[in-house]
Amino acid sequence: MSVDLSSQRIGVLFGGNSPERAGSVASAEAAAKALSMEEPSVELIDLQGIDLGSLADRIDVALLASHGLGGEDGKIQGALDTLYIPYTGSGVKASAVGMHKLTVKRMATGAMIDTPRWVEVHPSHTTVTTVSMARQSLGFPVFVKPVSGGGSLEAAIARDEHELTAVLERTRTQPYAEYLIEEFVPGIPCSVGVLEVDGKLTTLPIHSAETDREFYDYEAKHDRAQRRETCPADLPHLKATRLSQLALRVHRLIGAHGLSRVDFLLDPCGRMPMLEINTVPGLSEHGNLATMAAAAGMSYGDLVRHVLATAFTKPAYVP
Ligand SMILES: Nc1ncnc2c1ncn2[C@@H]1O[C@H](COP(=O)(O)OP(=O)(O)O)[C@@H](O)[C@H]1O
Ligand SMILES: [Mg+2]
Repeated sequence: MSVDLSSQRIGVLFGGNSPERAGSVASAEAAAKALSMEEPSVELIDLQGIDLGSLADRIDVALLASHGLGGEDGKIQGALDTLYIPYTGSGVKASAVGMHKLTVKRMATGAMIDTPRWVEVHPSHTTVTTVSMARQSLGFPVFVKPVSGGGSLEAAIARDEHELTAVLERTRTQPYAEYLIEEFVPGIPCSVGVLEVDGKLTTLPIHSAETDREFYDYEAKHDRAQRRETCPADLPHLKATRLSQLALRVHRLIGAHGLSRVDFLLDPCGRMPMLEINTVPGLSEHGNLATMAAAAGMSYGDLVRHVLATAFTKPAYVP
């Protein structure tokens, strides 16, 4: 790492008021603890209610542990660019694109990368129209999720028109602005961590998570007793290589920088559709990325330091 971190005031930015706040707190506390073992100046900074302008006098570099809306979607990235504070991970454009599952799916489709077929939920369409479009284009069951969501929050399976109607009616009272409906792909959730290590973009061992719940939902993600994780995932070498290559392609496709986690489903027929890319992946000590790093023989402290280094290798933002 070329930058002398001992002279840098490091701010670990977290929270805000995104629905993913809880995960963000876990990421930030673990990352700050690991960094403060070696670096003299590490500060945990909650984005909720903060005067962003004050950051310019307070920190020299930001490690972003802010997941979801407000923290992962380009807004905080734009603010930090304006303040000339280097920050970890992707810049404004890739953050905004990565947060928007529909845009990523459209780009992936254009690049011939498999992603579940989908129908957009237009706010101007009636529920009856949307249900009919889903039935005609996708059949049942389907999977409904917010376009800019995360952590499986507000996601649901609908097995027939009746269930889809109920799910869509419920979404009208939720904080997310847009939803999409995907064909339901039965399969094992697999994630690929992408990380820049000493200036080179690499992939970490693949992580798979099986659950007896209906899908890899919020509970399965937050309660270790509700999932069986395998890392490296038990996959034939060729499949694992293909998945890693796909993750790198998606990372580069949206112009992501430094780190990301690309989520896939592996179905029994060999299909491996890409679900989404996370540009600020969870960084908690027992989270997916840390598990992947451990499988690669990388300590949690080293993972966090590699993440921090990405703040200094990002090219300047040119829209
Ligand atoms: N099309 C789908 N078919 C079946 N399950 C899905 C589908 N999309 C998502 N899921 C389930 O929901 C989980 C979270 O989906 P994902 O698209 O990664 O959103 P999030 O941003 O909430 O993590 C997946 O791991 C999987 O269990
Ligand atoms: Mg996901």
